[in-house]
Amino acid sequence: MEALRVAVVKECNCFRVERRCDIMRKTAIKLQGIRKSFYIGQPNELEILHGINIDVKEGEFVSIVGESGSGKSTLMNIIGALDRPTQGEYFLDGKKINGAKDRELSVIRNKKIGFVFQTYNLIARTNALSNVELPMLYAGIPKNKRAKRAKELLDIVGMSERMDHKPDELSGGQKQRVAIARAMSNNPSIILADEPTGALDSDTGRKIMDIFHRLHRENGKTIVLITHSSSLANETERIITLKDGLVIGERKGEASC
Ligand SMILES: Nc1ncnc2c1ncn2[C@@H]1O[C@H](COP(=O)(O)OP(=O)(O)O)[C@@H](O)[C@H]1O
Ligand SMILES: [Mg+2]
Repeated sequence: MEALRVAVVKECNCFRVERRCDIMRKTAIKLQGIRKSFYIGQPNELEILHGINIDVKEGEFVSIVGESGSGKSTLMNIIGALDRPTQGEYFLDGKKINGAKDRELSVIRNKKIGFVFQTYNLIARTNALSNVELPMLYAGIPKNKRAKRAKELLDIVGMSERMDHKPDELSGGQKQRVAIARAMSNNPSIILADEPTGALDSDTGRKIMDIFHRLHRENGKTIVLITHSSSLANETERIITLKDGLVIGERKGEASC
């Protein structure tokens, strides 16, 4: 009976993925010739990214892998509009944003992109509920609507019972679940996760990964995930390998069409 149930669920998931794969997907993220240098004092500039070209389709689940120091976080910060490229063009939903003003970029970060960090980056002095509400507060959502949605999101990530707890009263995995709920608060189409399971044991990491799969499959989110784990990367649709600031490889993952 259990085996049958699993088979049906699997078939159902495959069906959903196949259906989405049939549709011509638009490009959500397009990076063209992205270079990034950091100024490290006269007369030196250190170039970290040397011309990155990446396309991510709407609803795609992509992972980025590479050794420590290869430029993954630098790249992710550019994709997440937290930083600007030194050269190259960045199109988000077909709109060029590398020349956008700071105000426009902060609106993009608030509305279009949900960011999940390895170290959670929750606000220590407020509880889980307020942490999830915060991006909605910035977006001008009224208090009652914010609280309702934050509770729904905490329920999705299995954290309803802990919504009154502050981050230091939560385990790493629980903090990351709150951080994912926060990333989802303004219903962004894109979720960026920079080593979200890097600080967690493998069982907890597994549960976090399952949440990303669900957001991808059931909510159609576009997800870009940086991970050190090749087995987690293999579960995504496409794996991009970065080395010394360049894309050196790309292959299909288990979830590919
Ligand atoms: N603000 C900065 N100033 C100077 N160098 C930096 C800065 N940020 C990152 N780097 C350097 O860029 C390289 C890539 O860093 P990072 O993108 O964090 O790599 P990864 O996430 O793949 O480990 C590293 O050598 C790092 O020291
Ligand atoms: Mg990094």
